[in-house]
Order: sequence, then structure tokens, then C-alpha cells
Amino acid sequence: MKQLLLIGIGPGDPRQVTFEAVEALRRATVFFVLDKGADKDELVRLRRGILERYLPAGGYRLVQVEDPQRDGQATDYVGAVRSWHVQRAALYARLIEDELGAGDIGAFLLWGEPGLYDSTLRILERVRQRGVAFALEVIPGISSIQALAARHQIPLNRIGEPLTVLPGRRLGEQGRVDNVVVMLDGQCAFAALEDAGLTIYWGAYLGTPDEMLIAGPLQTVKGRILREREQARQRKGWIMDTYLLRRED
Ligand SMILES: C[S@@+](CC[C@H](N)C(=O)[O-])C[C@H]1O[C@@H](n2cnc3c(N)ncnc32)[C@H](O)[C@@H]1O
Repeated sequence: MKQLLLIGIGPGDPRQVTFEAVEALRRATVFFVLDKGADKDELVRLRRGILERYLPAGGYRLVQVEDPQRDGQATDYVGAVRSWHVQRAALYARLIEDELGAGDIGAFLLWGEPGLYDSTLRILERVRQRGVAFALEVIPGISSIQALAARHQIPLNRIGEPLTVLPGRRLGEQGRVDNVVVMLDGQCAFAALEDAGLTIYWGAYLGTPDEMLIAGPLQTVKGRILREREQARQRKGWIMDTYLLRRED
């Protein structure tokens, strides 16, 4: 049976690729690299850099394909994500059927931790439903949340405290924020919060040479985050940022 590895590669620093992930990289014979458009070429380069660092040159095949884009303007968010998944499932099915020979081991390099805000497992379930058979292995990775906590030298939760992780578009629904990690926040939802009791620990491009870190009382530093975030986004053409909002005792 064809074999597939989903390898968590951490949030950008090649040194945050685990030994288990390196062993998995060395077993794989074909790597699927999904290209998300010119702005994110750098993310493809970072993945290639990991392969070049840990694998002997020429011992593997790279298949780079353009990933279908989600309709970012759709008003029905969940519907738009579902139809995007259907398109991706068709693409992944084709990759597995056409690009993997009987003796091959295919691998997807997944940003951070494969189980956190990553649709690949859900999409592969759809691929199986289409009748494509494969054996699957998932290798965990360091998530951007762990990198954020380590860089700011903070625990993710205080004693006995729950930790909520949510995408930016859900932050406004929170009645009261005590200890929340926010990801996928292209709209900077933190800027709308007027609460004077919150501290923000913000990080962008964590683990890469462009890493940015800002921390402080939300109302004091939010203007600076908005400004520096926008300058960086314009300079590089893309940004990935994550933050923790915490009510201080
Ligand atoms: C599709 S999710 C993938 C999350 C990933 N599986 C993880 O474990 O970090 C993408 C979001 O993760 C966060 N993220 C990923 N890599 C990051 C990095 N190097 N620095 C800051 N945030 C990052 C951002 O919030 C981004 O919008």
C-alpha cells in the first residue's frame, strides 16, 4: 500500500524540526510542496531549506503544485472552507495516485503542528472517501504557540487556568478574555478590544530571521503592533502572527 507521512516541521526555525521528523524526512522519497502564490514563495523556500539541511542532495523527488485558494471574500466562511477542501481533496487524490509509485513514501511538510489549525488530516479523510487507499503516519511538530511562549518566556497558562485557542474572527465573540491565544488573525481583532486589564504577548515570523516580538499592556502597545505589523507585511508581502491575551492579576 502507498504510504504517506504528515510531518510537522515547526514554525520556521530548522532547528525546531524534531529528531522524529528528521527520521521521517529521511524515509520519504517524494515530497509534496504546495505553493500558495508568489507572496508566500518564502514559505516554500523555508521548506526546501529544511530538506537541504537534513537530506543528502538528490536523494528525493520534489513535487511542487499550486494549492487552490480559498475565496477570502465569501460571506459564508464555513461553506467557503468546505468547497476549498473539496478542491484540495481532488488535488491530493491526484498527487497520491499519479505521483506515488508502489515503493514510494510520500510526505507533506506541515507548518508547526499538524493537529492545530491545519486541514490536511480532514482533507485526507475526504481523499479516502473518494476510494484512494494509503497508509498514514503523523509526526507531531512544535507549534507557533509553543514558539510564542518560549520567546516571551511565559507559561501558556497560570496555575490551574484554562487556555483558549481561537482564530481571530472569533475573538469578538468572547464575553470576557482571561487567557486566550489568537491565531489566523489577518484583521487584527485585538485592536477592537478596549479592555484596560489585558496584556498582549505578540509574535510574528517566529523562528525565522525576521522574527518580531512585542509585549505589554494591550492599550499601550496595540498602536505599535498595528504599525510595525503593517510595515512588515508590506515589506515582505505576507505575515504570520500569533498572540496571547492575558488578564493580569
Ligand atoms: C494555518 S495556521 C497553522 C498553524 C500551525 N499548524 C501551528 O502549529 O502553528 C497558520 C497560523 O499559525 C500562526 N503561525 C504559524 N507559523 C507562525 C510563525 N512562524 N509565527 C507566528 N505565527 C505563526 C499564525 O497565526 C498563522 O495565521
